[in-house]
Amino acid sequence: MAHTQFFKKKTIKDIDIHGKTILLRADFNVPMNDKSEITSDYRIIKSLPTIKYLLDRKCKVIIISHIGRPDGKPEQKYSLRPAYTKLQELMPEIDIKFSESTIDDSAKITCKQAVEGEIVLLENLRFDPGEVGNDMDFAKQLRLVSGADYFVQDGFGVVHRAHASTEAITHLLPALGGLLLAEEVDELLGVMSLPRRPLVAVVGGAKISDKIGFIERLLEVADTVLIGGAMANTFLKYNDNEIGKSVFEPGQEEIIKKIFKKAKPGQLILPKDVGVAAEIATSSQRRDCAINEIQKDEIILDIGFETMREFSGYIHNANTVIWNGPLGYAEIKQFAHGSEVLAKTISDQAGITSIVGGGDTADFVLNWLDNNPDGHFTHISTGGGAGLELMSGLKLPGVEALL
Ligand code: 3PG
Repeated sequence: MAHTQFFKKKTIKDIDIHGKTILLRADFNVPMNDKSEITSDYRIIKSLPTIKYLLDRKCKVIIISHIGRPDGKPEQKYSLRPAYTKLQELMPEIDIKFSESTIDDSAKITCKQAVEGEIVLLENLRFDPGEVGNDMDFAKQLRLVSGADYFVQDGFGVVHRAHASTEAITHLLPALGGLLLAEEVDELLGVMSLPRRPLVAVVGGAKISDKIGFIERLLEVADTVLIGGAMANTFLKYNDNEIGKSVFEPGQEEIIKKIFKKAKPGQLILPKDVGVAAEIATSSQRRDCAINEIQKDEIILDIGFETMREFSGYIHNANTVIWNGPLGYAEIKQFAHGSEVLAKTISDQAGITSIVGGGDTADFVLNWLDNNPDGHFTHISTGGGAGLELMSGLKLPGVEALL
């Protein structure tokens, strides 16, 4: 987008960090399969500009991150080693060391031995309960082990958490923003504050409760809000539609009532038809029907073709699109049509500003781009919860804490 700065904190570009030792918080919380293979390296790739910027200035870079939720104790399946291997693959010219411990003496020795222009990646921060506990002693250990002069926050995906590596550490070292963090904040706040209109938001995914603040904020800033995914089922049920065996979120009646009350006439659009099946399986037969024709034993698994056409119409008229949440059960081909049509419609529209939320939506769009290499989106966020909180208007502890 046209750049107004929404990131108000000091970044690595504001300070002479030449030759310094940097403790860099990245978010290498990447998805992995059962064989501990990384299934999307997007977050690591998006961390590279900051890492390269620091290396170009002859910094020694000590990277810290979490992966998964290991509950304060070491567990092999949550090791950052695969992320280390991926990073080394992406930067073959740089000597990168991996420390199997996060804060003990061996980590300290590894950091000490590294020289300017080298990188050390420490093992998963969450192997120590001090990380999630925002524990000052743990943060002190991180400073000591790394020998850092500056702390740089570039893990956008985790700045909504007040943890030792996002909050406590900023009381111990001068704390700057990295390039990815600044880019994310500028893009996500930019689109919510100064969108080129019409602004159309597409919200999918399973749960309304995760996205209440986001939907409410969208009703203040967006011209149209299109609802799909399993979240739509909860709205349809509230409106007394038969939704068969579809998943929905009970106990959301008051919230939905509030959302309907807040929406201006014609602003909130629900699916008019859906793709249904008898079961969730790769072999399932898809049937499309109007929302008043869903049978008791059917499951809604996608928006219908008529709804896809209607949603596309809104996108064609838009100058800005925000998309957060898949529109159907996109893991299975025949229920990915809604999300695929949306990706194609947005991507085909020249000149549009398109912002894709992180998590499942980013994974879907990145996969789609693998098969459609000419596709284009303005910004695909690395943040899931962090992006939602930021776009809902909340302050993020890991950003607030910076200089
Ligand atoms: C994310 O994937 O959203 C971030 O890495 C934060 O992870 P968390 O939800 O486990 O804190």
